Amino acid sequence: MAGESTMKIISIAAAALLLVTATSAMSQQKAKIDPAKVDAAVKGALVAFPAPPEVWQPRLTPDETMKVCAASHNNPSKAQFAAIEKREKAAIEYPADGKFIGDWKKGEAVAQNGYGMRFTDYPPARANGGNCYACHQLSKAEVSYGTIGPSLLGYGKLRDFKEAEVKTAYEKIYNSHATFPCSLMPRFGTNKILTMDQMKDLVALLMSPDSPVNK
Ligand code: HEC
Repeated sequence: MAGESTMKIISIAAAALLLVTATSAMSQQKAKIDPAKVDAAVKGALVAFPAPPEVWQPRLTPDETMKVCAASHNNPSKAQFAAIEKREKAAIEYPADGKFIGDWKKGEAVAQNGYGMRFTDYPPARANGGNCYACHQLSKAEVSYGTIGPSLLGYGKLRDFKEAEVKTAYEKIYNSHATFPCSLMPRFGTNKILTMDQMKDLVALLMSPDSPVNK
């Protein structure tokens, strides 16, 4: 069985190599890549995941925004940029009581937690985390963080803890594309990765004067 899956991996690698070779040869001739061929190669590679969980299916099907971002290599035209901003902003759900600030201590735990949506996380055993530290610096105490996103150290302080900034932070977490189309940051609310309470706790983490972000 092990031999069989090794063979599968080797044949996927060989197919990928062929695709790359074919692609670079084609680009030299300035020919178009046939999207059907690419789709077929990607579908073929799915043999590595013989039974993706049902719940993955919506994630494997790009929505309108993801399609535009992929086709433009995350560089949408002005009109596309405006259309994404508008569509994504319209999809944001706000807390019914109008209160955006939760508990920053819980928010810190959500920011630290990378649980959820990995293929080993089904069926889910507990709530998802936000994994914010994977891309952002958020506190001086935590030295292990990624740098795909900007440092969020002093986030609230730098914004004078303004009321309007509280809502902006919530919107950013709920749907990064509403303020930055084709952002690399996940859409935590839109894609139902985090609950509204978890997002409020993260807003508290960013916007509370006594949270580690602003200390
Ligand atoms: C996969 C990487 C990634 C993850 C995970 C991620 N972000 Fe981001 N984030 C980014 C990138 C890239 C940007 C800059 C582009 C943008 O504004 O969308 C950003 C921007 C932001 C901004 C705006 C910063 C500014 O200066 O305006 C905030 C606030 C933010 N992220 C909060 C969070 C929080 C809270 C979490 C966890 C729930 C999180 N991010 C998780 C990549 C990430």
